[in-house]
Amino acid sequence: MSTLAGKHIVLGLSGGVAAFKSAELCRALVKAGVTVQVVMTEAAEHFMTAVTMQALSGRPVYTSQWDPREANNMAHINLSREADAIVVAPASADFMSKLLHGGADELLSLMCLARPIDKVPLIVAPAMNREMWSNPATQRNVAQLKADGVHVLDVGQGDQACGETGDGRMLEAEEILEDLMAFFAPKRMAGQRVLVTAGPTYEAIDPVRGITNLSSGKMGFAIARAARMAGAEVTLVAGPVHLATPRGVQRIDVRSARQMLDAVLAGVDDASVFVATAAVADWRPDTQADQKIKKDGSGQTPALRFVENPDILATVAASSRARSGDLFCVGFAAESHDLLAHATAKRIRKGVPLLVGNIGPATFGQDDNALLLVDDAGARELPHGSKQDLAVQLIDDIARRLS
Ligand code: C5P
Repeated sequence: MSTLAGKHIVLGLSGGVAAFKSAELCRALVKAGVTVQVVMTEAAEHFMTAVTMQALSGRPVYTSQWDPREANNMAHINLSREADAIVVAPASADFMSKLLHGGADELLSLMCLARPIDKVPLIVAPAMNREMWSNPATQRNVAQLKADGVHVLDVGQGDQACGETGDGRMLEAEEILEDLMAFFAPKRMAGQRVLVTAGPTYEAIDPVRGITNLSSGKMGFAIARAARMAGAEVTLVAGPVHLATPRGVQRIDVRSARQMLDAVLAGVDDASVFVATAAVADWRPDTQADQKIKKDGSGQTPALRFVENPDILATVAASSRARSGDLFCVGFAAESHDLLAHATAKRIRKGVPLLVGNIGPATFGQDDNALLLVDDAGARELPHGSKQDLAVQLIDDIARRLS
């Protein structure tokens, strides 16, 4: 379930072309179970109508501090007291400067100033031209706003409405949504550095052919995302998959098992948790042809011989044990039958404290899964659910074991 469900967010719009993304954001928040109260500055109304925002939020929009609908005529007090957070998107350069100085000459800035600072977080998504963004005045304001406890989201990079290209675009709606979900998630993994492997590996036969498997990488990507939401620093070593990198996660793309091992060994010394979800190919062809192997018309097939790939998880776990390290290693087992027996044996063989079993053919490529957590005390089932929900539960479980 979304960490945003049931929250009440005041969505403030100041003036900027990026206001069109706030319509998407509003819709996405409502879909995530948030009640959204929109407040717009006069400048914002030049870019987006209050009618649109009312339709999307399902609530009348506030645009004036003199709004007579409030019995006490104190919209700035009433709106800010009800909110779980105030999110200003877009936050223009001018609006941020106003926030910084405690300006309060219209409803949105007045409400930000009047909010109970310890109870109602203020989150801003800057949006402006690249020169405005890189101007020392703006950068000074951003630094001071952060020092004042305002959560300033990143800016995006790319083409701008003015025709220039650079930093300063407002994040896309789904990126802001992801950052808001992370903001509200309990930080059970704060201070942890998590290394995750995900996806299949691809073992080349020649420049155009190879062997791989049906792993989609979805479970590993979900775990990386859940760990980041829980406050960990996350590195994701990904085999060849077609998945977007979870926000805030550092991704390293690899192809073969040996490349995956190299990437893991380069990162594991900095890690406190290693989660091996990758479906690493057990074998690779013993040689890789430099040129495409040709069919010569004789009906003869090439004789392929295989050698075993390094076991990344077992290698990492053994080396951590040898150094009496405190790296917490988690393995996965995709089985087709006798899950408990195979997962129990695999946990001991790999030398890890926690082994997560799932039924391989039932889960490869799917969005759902069911997990069996096996440790030295026994087994616990995480019943069928979305991979993302299961990832959150697994990260919770790991956090409990670390604490
Ligand atoms: O031996 P098996 O492939 O069933 O083990 C699965 C677990 O071991 C997974 O956690 C997988 O990521 C890891 N593994 C590995 N390197 C291999 C094979 C598996 O890290 N070569």
